Amino acid sequence: QGGAWDIRPVTPATGAEVSGIVLSDRLGEEEIARLREALAKHKVLFFRGQGHLDDAAQEAFAARLGQPFAHPTVPSKQGTGYILDVDSQHGGRADQWHTDITFLDAYPSASILRAVVVPEAGGDTVWANTAAAYESLPQELKELAERLWAVHSNDFDYAVAAQRKGVPLEQERDYRQVFASTVYETEHPLVRVLPDTGEKALVLGSFAKRVLNVSASASRQLLDLFQEHVVRLNHTVRWRWEEGDVVIWDNRATQHVAVNDYGEQRRIVRRVTLAGDVPVSVEG
Ligand code: SIN
Repeated sequence: QGGAWDIRPVTPATGAEVSGIVLSDRLGEEEIARLREALAKHKVLFFRGQGHLDDAAQEAFAARLGQPFAHPTVPSKQGTGYILDVDSQHGGRADQWHTDITFLDAYPSASILRAVVVPEAGGDTVWANTAAAYESLPQELKELAERLWAVHSNDFDYAVAAQRKGVPLEQERDYRQVFASTVYETEHPLVRVLPDTGEKALVLGSFAKRVLNVSASASRQLLDLFQEHVVRLNHTVRWRWEEGDVVIWDNRATQHVAVNDYGEQRRIVRRVTLAGDVPVSVEG
């Protein structure tokens, strides 16, 4: 390998494309360290042309970056230890803004996603940088956010889902039943301090259900206020998938959503997440 690869930002704040690298478990320590450093800086790393990876090779590469972590409710793809198979034909449409698995106390530090089947058009994924979002808040809202905690849960709200336009709810139901087969609930600070960089990042997304110690209506307004801020265009990067692409994101510092605009076309992406830590609030 030799580390002769190139890292180019996709937007100034978020996302970089890494070229000239062949992802595998055979990368050297220096290269793994360089990838980790780039991830802490850019939050999302994009790699084209990694079609040599199969499920086992994706898992093996992921294990070099961290400790692979199986989803707590959705069984791993058959024959694998950790692969989450996100298949549109089985209701796998990650079409709400979220950070992976924030309904656990220690939620994943990173995810590695590989595109297996890509619609001819559509099905892009968009990431938002939650550290950049914290940073661009006015000082008064930073201080407010730093005082708040929210409950996160995987309990699925069908009433909210039914209001979402264009989502084939029937198709989604089976997947959701498995997803919420055991209900988890935890509390996280709205602002966490990132272990690698010391930056502060907002912790929200669709698993954030309510803000603690305020009325239901204040809770809704606060969640909407901060969530809408997180996903402002300046904090985001959008990726047009090609088969064989791999994307790695810092799951402590991002949210993401798969745009659900591809109708009945098939879309299959496969994810390995890496174990994380309990978020540290600004109080320590
Ligand atoms: C996921 O949420 O891990 C999947 C994202 C995607 O389907 O693009």
